[in-house]
Amino acid sequence: MTARILDGKMIANTIRQEVALKVAQFKEKFSKSPKLVAVLVGDDPASQVYVRNKEIACSKAGIESQVLRLECSTTTENLLEILEDLNADDTVHGILVQLPLPTHIDSRAVLDRIEPSKDVDAFSPENVGLMSQGRPRFLPCTPHGVMQLLDRCSIPICGKEVVVVGRSDIVGKPLVMMCLQKTGPAGHDNANATVTCCHSQTTDLGSITRRADVLLVAIGKPNWINAQMVKPGAVVIDIGINRLNDRLVGDVDFDSVSQVACAITPVPGGVGPLTIAMLLENTIRAAQQQQSQTQTSA
Ligand code: GUN
Repeated sequence: MTARILDGKMIANTIRQEVALKVAQFKEKFSKSPKLVAVLVGDDPASQVYVRNKEIACSKAGIESQVLRLECSTTTENLLEILEDLNADDTVHGILVQLPLPTHIDSRAVLDRIEPSKDVDAFSPENVGLMSQGRPRFLPCTPHGVMQLLDRCSIPICGKEVVVVGRSDIVGKPLVMMCLQKTGPAGHDNANATVTCCHSQTTDLGSITRRADVLLVAIGKPNWINAQMVKPGAVVIDIGINRLNDRLVGDVDFDSVSQVACAITPVPGGVGPLTIAMLLENTIRAAQQQQSQTQTSA
């Protein structure tokens, strides 16, 4: 069997066009632009590229964006003050702090300071709680991208065995919650899976991944999942982005797994482009929510 390749880039482009339309309608109706501010501390090369890509994507969707590039020596206190100002600024609808932060900064304290209604990454305890209860304000961008990909490629997960490999707060845990819900993220029915989560301490990983009808992999280890660990005919979604010998590779050994899976995402060009598309979606959503909040309280 040779797997169907799931084209995340194409789906991301469709979502970006949908967002651009919503942005145009918002501007027309309220004579203002949705605005995203990204905070980047230090000079991590990968983070610089990610933030630049977010800036370009905002511009293409008609969203105003600003990047605050701060010295590596920035302290937790400096950052908390900056966030207070952004929280209070009515022209700013979305705030994101690019991770990882330098190790001397208390990342938890920083993320906790972002006003939840502007938390377009959906990392705050309030937004994680709302999402877990199935009444999300925003959905975290990468897991939401995975759910959109499954939905738009007509891959149902209802009643299926979904195995998530990885338990990070950003990807693994929210994916588990989303797949478990009674209804899917956009109110569709694509959820209701039987979900197992594996991690670095899981014994005999392959015996569990082989049960999966849909295997979602986010462990950050290059080519970790091989063909022997995948059930023939499974759908495999690779959420990893690793640099190996100057090439980008996923967490899944694409060449061998694509011979047993029925569908697979490539790296690059799979889940990656969807993360940015969902950030744009959260930003217009934040602007719409804040606008209706202002109107209700006026
Ligand atoms: N670093 C890696 N992924 C992400 C993400 O989704 N959001 C932020 N803010 N930083 C990241």
